[in-house]
Amino acid sequence: MPNDTWYILGAGSIGCLWAASLCHKGASPRLILRESSYQQFARKRVPLKLSTPDQTALFDVDIVSPETINSPINRLIVCTKAQDALAALNSVKAHLADNCQILLLYNGMGSQQTVRDAMPTQTVWAGSSTDGAYLAAPFEVYHAGRGNTWIGSLRNDQRSEPGFDDLCSNFRLNVSQCDAIEQKLWEKLAINSCINGLTALFNCRNGELLDNGEKQVWLDQLIIEASSVLAALEIPATSLREKVHGVCQNTASNLSSTCQDARRGRATELSFIVTIQH
Ligand SMILES: NC(=O)c1ccc[n+]([C@@H]2O[C@H](COP(=O)([O-])OP(=O)(O)OC[C@H]3O[C@@H](n4cnc5c(N)ncnc54)[C@H](OP(=O)(O)O)[C@@H]3O)[C@@H](O)[C@H]2O)c1
Repeated sequence: MPNDTWYILGAGSIGCLWAASLCHKGASPRLILRESSYQQFARKRVPLKLSTPDQTALFDVDIVSPETINSPINRLIVCTKAQDALAALNSVKAHLADNCQILLLYNGMGSQQTVRDAMPTQTVWAGSSTDGAYLAAPFEVYHAGRGNTWIGSLRNDQRSEPGFDDLCSNFRLNVSQCDAIEQKLWEKLAINSCINGLTALFNCRNGELLDNGEKQVWLDQLIIEASSVLAALEIPATSLREKVHGVCQNTASNLSSTCQDARRGRATELSFIVTIQH
């Protein structure tokens, strides 16, 4: 197994989207499943289906579990929810090379810094993405909304490392490096904190929050609160209202992940999404 193999931890919507996109680039990523999920498939390769509104493509992908990983991990993309990231990383910790590059692709703020502090020899990067994807079935991902992903190091002293430069070109996802990733994470968090909880509360699609009625009153109140939090933290975020309304309009027919989790009776990310340590 070449030592530049991409490993992807978590085979949900984002994990499958990134795995399929890496296959599209010609790489051979390996998807890491929980031991129990891996046993269900009882085979080492699965067909991974990537659909967009225009086309469908199939890729043959390796699946592994923490027990079956047989080479050191040098490049790892973490695609779990925020609350699962540290436990998932700990399950593969024995396989992480000392200089492993780890990219955390989940939403929120605080959990990324906890992981960074728990992985002192590895280089930890965070990503913030506006792509939209959902799983129609296991290993069948629908890329519903094409967005942008920004990647930046969580350690100021490691800017000179190449990190994930090779994803910034010839890749089907729009990826760019970002020097101020924490600011991007805060902004995304502020936007999500206005939209996601409300869509779960009202059991509605993102666009329905702009109803010129009760939902929009709540939305605009949350925007005011989130703006004052950003201001108190001295995060330069202009026109949060425009951004939140823009997301509601551009993703009008989407069900937020929080609303989807609430509908399925699953734990949402909300109470884990900000875990700032003082
Ligand atoms: N989906 C989107 O459009 C989108 C867009 C932007 C950002 N995000 C963010 O990206 C993150 C991931 O979202 P998602 O929609 O991909 O969530 P998801 O579909 O729920 O996928 C998370 C995956 O992680 C797996 N997982 C959890 N613990 C694990 C462990 N210990 N070992 C291996 N796998 C483990 C889960 O498996 P189990 O089901 O077995 O728990 C699940 O397959 C979230 O923070 C979300 O807010 C999502």
